[in-house]
Amino acid sequence: MTTFGFIGTGHLGSMLVKQFVGSGAIQAERVLASNRTAEKVDLLAEATGIRSVSNRVVTELSDVIFICVRPLEVRDVLSDVTYLLNSQKLVVSVAGDVSLEKLQSFCPARLARAFPSMASLKLQGVTLLVFGDNTTAEDQRLIAGLFNAIGQAVEVEEKDFAVLADLTSSAPGYFAALMREFVLAAERRGISPELAERLVKQTLLGTALLLEEESFAGLIESVATIGGITEVGVKVIQREAPGMFDQLFQATEARHEQVRKKVDLIRKV
Ligand SMILES: NC(=O)c1ccc[n+]([C@@H]2O[C@H](COP(=O)([O-])OP(=O)(O)OC[C@H]3O[C@@H](n4cnc5c(N)ncnc54)[C@H](OP(=O)(O)O)[C@@H]3O)[C@@H](O)[C@H]2O)c1
Repeated sequence: MTTFGFIGTGHLGSMLVKQFVGSGAIQAERVLASNRTAEKVDLLAEATGIRSVSNRVVTELSDVIFICVRPLEVRDVLSDVTYLLNSQKLVVSVAGDVSLEKLQSFCPARLARAFPSMASLKLQGVTLLVFGDNTTAEDQRLIAGLFNAIGQAVEVEEKDFAVLADLTSSAPGYFAALMREFVLAAERRGISPELAERLVKQTLLGTALLLEEESFAGLIESVATIGGITEVGVKVIQREAPGMFDQLFQATEARHEQVRKKVDLIRKV
């Protein structure tokens, strides 16, 4: 029986524990978790039935260890428990901008990276996965199976991670920001923001369901009939949005580069 450990139970770590246990993908008694601020993991343990322990105990007793701390904290967390890590253990890091190569330089375990989405709170969305050369086919099946239980797991190339994370993990925030601008524009035309938000949210949910069977281009074609009102609006978006999305990718890539440089500079004291 595999034992699963989670180091870091902030937003993402606690979501993963709750959803893996809640969906039945992992039994609560097979889960150990730790967090710098112990009260946080104690509350999670109370709510889910998992065990709250220290980083050392998580590492010692778990076969699969999810590292759910921020990118600049990964090296310190792993360095403190390196002596307990070996090729018998699988470490799955969810930290952005800490490459497999970097992880391998201070972690003698089998390694994978996962980049989940908060949409897994609704058992939807995508988790990006990349596996180290030292993982086995069984590791890959196990990890993909876990994330498929709380959304959709997609294995990708590590070089594409940052752009793909914009499309998956960050996208709920981008979609919400875009829709909020839509609502605010309606408000500037005298519509109450509460009404506009309610209508847009419901329409967004319906649109997502239509897209289960339809491409973006196909949906545009069926809604924006030639010569109609929607076509005029679609043309405005097609004129204005490319520059905005190119700027978005440029801005996030610059931010990734800053974090990568900081990660490279970190040394264990
Ligand atoms: N949030 C997302 O949507 C998302 C999506 C994909 C990937 N990620 C990745 O997930 C990671 C965590 O993000 P987050 O949003 O969950 O951040 P967060 O809410 O700040 O959680 C980080 C957690 O790590 C704990 N921690 C820090 N140092 C520790 C240590 N030495 N030992 C044990 N626990 C320690 C913190 O404890 P304290 O309670 O003491 O602060 C905190 O609870 C990041 O690397 C991020 O790139 C996040």
